[in-house]
Amino acid sequence: MFKILIFFYLLKIIAGNPIKDEISTIGVQNASRTDSPWFALIEIKSNGLRCGGSLISDQFVVTAAHCLDSLDSLDSLSLKQGVLIKLGEWKTDIENDCEESNEECESVAEIQPKSVKIHEYYDKSDKSKQNYDVAVIKLAWKPRMSEIIQNIELSTSDSNVKLTNQVLTVTGFGQSTPGRYTNIKKKIQIKIFPDRFCEEKHKGTYSRSRHICGLGYEGVTTCSGDSGSGLFRTVNGKTYLEGITAYGVANCGERDLPSGFMKVATFKEWIKEQIDTLS
Ligand SMILES: *[C@@H]1O[C@H](CO)[C@@H](O)[C@H](O)[C@H]1NC(C)=O
Repeated sequence: MFKILIFFYLLKIIAGNPIKDEISTIGVQNASRTDSPWFALIEIKSNGLRCGGSLISDQFVVTAAHCLDSLDSLDSLSLKQGVLIKLGEWKTDIENDCEESNEECESVAEIQPKSVKIHEYYDKSDKSKQNYDVAVIKLAWKPRMSEIIQNIELSTSDSNVKLTNQVLTVTGFGQSTPGRYTNIKKKIQIKIFPDRFCEEKHKGTYSRSRHICGLGYEGVTTCSGDSGSGLFRTVNGKTYLEGITAYGVANCGERDLPSGFMKVATFKEWIKEQIDTLS
């Protein structure tokens, strides 16, 4: 079950790495209630697993295809019974997510999928499936947009974009300790690395054209963020979805292992096509 989780480790073991000092003040933080309002918490009922996703229009969520691997079928009944999507979620252990209990605030939307499109080239039995680990989910209905529910723009970059050395953000409800999910939305800073770093660490899996190589920074054995969660960056006050958390780790506790994010710039035409055609 660890395969769908992404873990981030201390970077300081890379002796003499020039970025070490620069990143020492960033890491994992609690998100605020209104942070990344496009975040979708995806619950798979059959096995209790969580994934993340991003609301990319008024009714569509993009996630990693492998999040849906455990479903026997993608027909509408199986989707309805097996998957629940929560928009606007902040603290999973309390009913009312307001900062103060007497306050009136927007409520979380819990919506089942209406239909799903998994990338045509994704094959869950194939070792290199990470190459097309993308899926689009159409929600059963349109949520009401609010302070805590907003869609995010897809990357406007072309597929050759290199974000190397930039620090992007992922939010998620991944494990904060192995085997235990966090019950508050977390915000994780991810430094983007040169492709060759991931090519070395993920031999035969990493693709320059389809992936972004990133690594988070946090204390020992921190396992943060879920597959499918959006990797985003803000440029001139506007935030864009650049990546989808896809893979990176088999063993929680292994350090210095970067994650592969699906590169949205490469897949955005495919994603838009699904928005136009999924019924
Ligand atoms: C983050 O949130 C959790 C759960 O609400 C809380 O226990 C913890 O103290 C918070 N951490 C910080 C640094 O605020």
